[in-house]
Amino acid sequence: MINPQTDRVLITGAAGAIGSTLRRGLRDHWRHLRLTDIRPVPDLADNEEFVVADITDRPAVESMMRDVRAVVHLAGIVGSYTLEDLFRVNARGLFDVLEAARLAGVERIIFASSNHAFGCYPITEKVSPALPPRPDGLYGVFKVWGETMLRNYYDRHGIRSVSLRIGTFRPQPIDQRSLATWLSPADAVQLVDVALRHPDPGCMVVNGYSNNTRLKTVDPNWATLGYKPNDNAEDYRAALRAQGVDVDAPDRDVWEWPEHGGSFPRTPEKPPR
Ligand SMILES: NC(=O)c1ccc[n+]([C@@H]2O[C@H](COP(=O)([O-])OP(=O)(O)OC[C@H]3O[C@@H](n4cnc5c(N)ncnc54)[C@H](O)[C@@H]3O)[C@@H](O)[C@H]2O)c1
Repeated sequence: MINPQTDRVLITGAAGAIGSTLRRGLRDHWRHLRLTDIRPVPDLADNEEFVVADITDRPAVESMMRDVRAVVHLAGIVGSYTLEDLFRVNARGLFDVLEAARLAGVERIIFASSNHAFGCYPITEKVSPALPPRPDGLYGVFKVWGETMLRNYYDRHGIRSVSLRIGTFRPQPIDQRSLATWLSPADAVQLVDVALRHPDPGCMVVNGYSNNTRLKTVDPNWATLGYKPNDNAEDYRAALRAQGVDVDAPDRDVWEWPEHGGSFPRTPEKPPR
């Protein structure tokens, strides 16, 4: 278990959407938070320190790992990307963070993986972390690679980890797919909190959703982790309908996008240079 009173936790990508939410949710209980991002992080609390750095700057990453017991690795390229940036940050940068953590004696890593690690499964099928990955693009491929690295770090070096296959993290569900895949801010905080506190997660992969009525997941490892999500995308059904979202078709298991990954499996990959 990582001790919220005594242990230092490093959060990468702390200026981002999930990082900002985690800061707000964790800082009252976690006494020593070190934050890093390439962008500024505003309004530091007394128990937060901030290091501005590019995650691909290995000396900077090694230095920020000093006295850190656990890492929550969120930094990465999200959304539209060039192949060069994806390789540089989500592959090489991920490697540098994991290696620097290993060399510094970090005991636990929480990794922001993604449901794009299994985005090619049909949305009508329930997915589980126990199934073979089916990434829906290079973004998902590197998330699977990160999970695989962490498997290797556990088997060879005993570093415990929880990879979170995060669905649609937003303040509210945004579309039909997120009726199944939404992860609310409060549930995201709980997910990371229990992943840090768990006495021994081994090398666990967990699906990161809220308690949505239309979940398409089975055995998401929530009971093992002790995660009990409270929010439900269904509570926003009327609001989504008012925005023109067809919220009724999923009752018949008819979905706008036929795979878990939404539009990703059908988006052309960036051409190589
Ligand atoms: N938001 C979602 O729905 C979702 C779903 C699945 C997975 N994830 C994963 O969760 C993580 C956080 O996502 P988010 O929604 O907060 O994204 P975000 O874009 O809001 O935050 C990512 C942060 O990483 C930082 N960053 C990017 N490149 C960097 C670099 N080279 N060095 C240092 N910092 C860098 C950015 O400045 C940004 O603050 C990402 O790894 C993403 O792949 C997010």
